[in-house]
Amino acid sequence: MSKLPLIEAHGLNMRYPTGRLALQGASLTVHPGELAVILGANGCGKSTMLRIIAGMQKPSGGEVRVAGQDITRLNGRALSEARMNLGMVFQHAHLVKRRSVVANVATGTLGRHRTMFTALGGLPACEFPHAMACLEQVGLTPYARQRASTLSGGQAQRAAIARALAQRPRALLADEPVASLDPEAAEEVMRLLRGLASGHGMAVLCVLHQPELARRYADRLLGLRQGAMVFDAPPGHVPAAAINDLYEGFRPS
Ligand SMILES: Nc1ncnc2c1ncn2[C@@H]1O[C@H](COP(=O)(O)OP(=O)(O)OP(=O)(O)O)[C@@H](O)[C@H]1O
Ligand SMILES: [Mg+2]
Repeated sequence: MSKLPLIEAHGLNMRYPTGRLALQGASLTVHPGELAVILGANGCGKSTMLRIIAGMQKPSGGEVRVAGQDITRLNGRALSEARMNLGMVFQHAHLVKRRSVVANVATGTLGRHRTMFTALGGLPACEFPHAMACLEQVGLTPYARQRASTLSGGQAQRAAIARALAQRPRALLADEPVASLDPEAAEEVMRLLRGLASGHGMAVLCVLHQPELARRYADRLLGLRQGAMVFDAPPGHVPAAAINDLYEGFRPS
């Protein structure tokens, strides 16, 4: 494992305009080749943390370094370029259903091709071989030409991961990527994320609500409670009680 972290978040604070304090000094690091999983109760700040790391929102305090660059200080084009390092995956695949699977994956490359043609919905033909390679990585080659609407939930999520990979990111941020999937499809997605970290050297940061899956697939478990990181350790060093504590006695009002 490389010594330099790809993702570093230091002392993140987030107070929303409503007054809600969503993060209170939360920090984390993820190295290339590592799969880190954030666990925590509803409303403890997991998605807020991912959005800030992704550069989608600015924190009230703290800093985020992606490949050594403090993205909380970037704006405009510099921020867009830094964000190309980070692929995003969400609970729902959000594919364009009437488009083919490979065309959906090719949309992941659009950040690199801003022309009048792409602004009008066109896709860069030169990226289709790369989109096919990304589909192969997630085991969906035979489905490339089908409409996205024909995919099962698990296949759609793997296509969404291929779309994120098409961007050529160095890290993947996944917010509850298996929340809508059946157990077998969830295992497949977790195996895939594990392989992207171990086999391809990506830094993968994933939010899960399934501690048991997290234990089996993660290199490190990060426990977030009321916006603060309460543990950060390999699964074997995190007792069940520490995980249970995340979910007990706290519900946001
Ligand atoms: N845009 C917003 N404006 C105001 N408050 C927000 C906003 N987004 C999130 N919050 C609040 O910040 C806190 C953390 O929300 P966040 O979505 O990060 O939690 P989470 O851990 O991802 O929860 P879940 O497990 O339900 O997805 C919650 O109290 C939420 O209500
Ligand atoms: Mg969330």
